[in-house]
Amino acid sequence: MDYIANKNRYKTMPYNKCGKWGLKLPAISLGLWHNFGGIDNFENSREILHKAFDLGITHFDLANNYGPPPGSAEENFGKILKTDFKTYRDELVISSKAGYLMWDGPYGEWGSRKYLLASLDQSLKKMGLEYVDIFYSHRPDHNTPLEETMMALDQAVRSGKTLYVGISNYPADLAQEASKILKELGTPCLIHQPRYSMFERWIEDGLLNVLEEEGIGCIPYSPLAQGLLTDKYLDGIPEGSRATRGIFLKEEHVNSAHKKVVALNELAKKRGQSLAQMALAWVLKDKRITSVLIGASSARQIEDNVATLANLHFKEGELKSIEEILA
Ligand SMILES: NC(=O)c1ccc[n+]([C@@H]2O[C@H](COP(=O)([O-])OP(=O)(O)OC[C@H]3O[C@@H](n4cnc5c(N)ncnc54)[C@H](OP(=O)(O)O)[C@@H]3O)[C@@H](O)[C@H]2O)c1
Repeated sequence: MDYIANKNRYKTMPYNKCGKWGLKLPAISLGLWHNFGGIDNFENSREILHKAFDLGITHFDLANNYGPPPGSAEENFGKILKTDFKTYRDELVISSKAGYLMWDGPYGEWGSRKYLLASLDQSLKKMGLEYVDIFYSHRPDHNTPLEETMMALDQAVRSGKTLYVGISNYPADLAQEASKILKELGTPCLIHQPRYSMFERWIEDGLLNVLEEEGIGCIPYSPLAQGLLTDKYLDGIPEGSRATRGIFLKEEHVNSAHKKVVALNELAKKRGQSLAQMALAWVLKDKRITSVLIGASSARQIEDNVATLANLHFKEGELKSIEEILA
């Protein structure tokens, strides 16, 4: 059956500016790193995207290598775009990235102009798009001059293949330098995509200040620590969860976080929220955060996570208790 988007989709989701720039992103965005690959259930992936858009999630984040197999998330997303979202392209912000290994040989990863621009062409082809909205350098490359990587991003904008550019996983000093180079080139940096959650807080030690000074947005990924900051692992590791795949989230991560997760879950209950909701609200409480970039393996998780928006406020005492649990 043809997909028709919910006509109330813009009623509750807040849309925040990326730093000082005009582009707004939904407070909650969806990433396609997991659950959209060739090995995954296509109809489930489709249902997740429908649910997300119906609830006001206008931003979908991809990368050249998402799958598995690498590249298949962009292919699947392209298929769904072509059928279900073809009339909604101008309501969507679609991003892709290049930086990690995508193809064999010396030009299939990192930050050279050769790799970034070829990868962007491949991503556009896989998704059936003329342009993406945001193209990222996925990780810094210490063996390529920053100028070269930034010149490739500038070129991507000038050739009309992306509207904006961003950087991901860049530490504070490199982010500042990248921003300076991009400004000089005339293609400012729109947004930074770092890992950030209650369990991983490195961006508080300098990066957030740099982004604020430079007027760059911030879209943290893995705000639920890949599912650790939910009620999913309270009683062990359920079948089908990311931790059972054991690649990016391992059993030892689940075990070592367990005590804190139990205490945080109790606190969330007192707030009348699920732990996932409290974890997302906690990331969004900093006004420098543009959007939280979640993943989901079901439409129900999208619903649970979007319901976070009903309570984004923290009392001083709650924040103090969270700090005590995390200490
Ligand atoms: N720039 C980078 O280097 C980089 C790196 C990683 C990710 N990212 C981006 O960030 C996106 C999100 O990353 P992530 O998937 O790690 O984010 P996450 O939101 O921390 O974790 C998502 C996982 O948490 C579980 N989950 C989500 N909502 C839940 C709920 N309400 N209740 C119980 N479990 C829930 C699901 O795990 P199950 O699958 O076990 O159900 C889901 O797959 C990626 O898709 C990608 O776009 C970027």
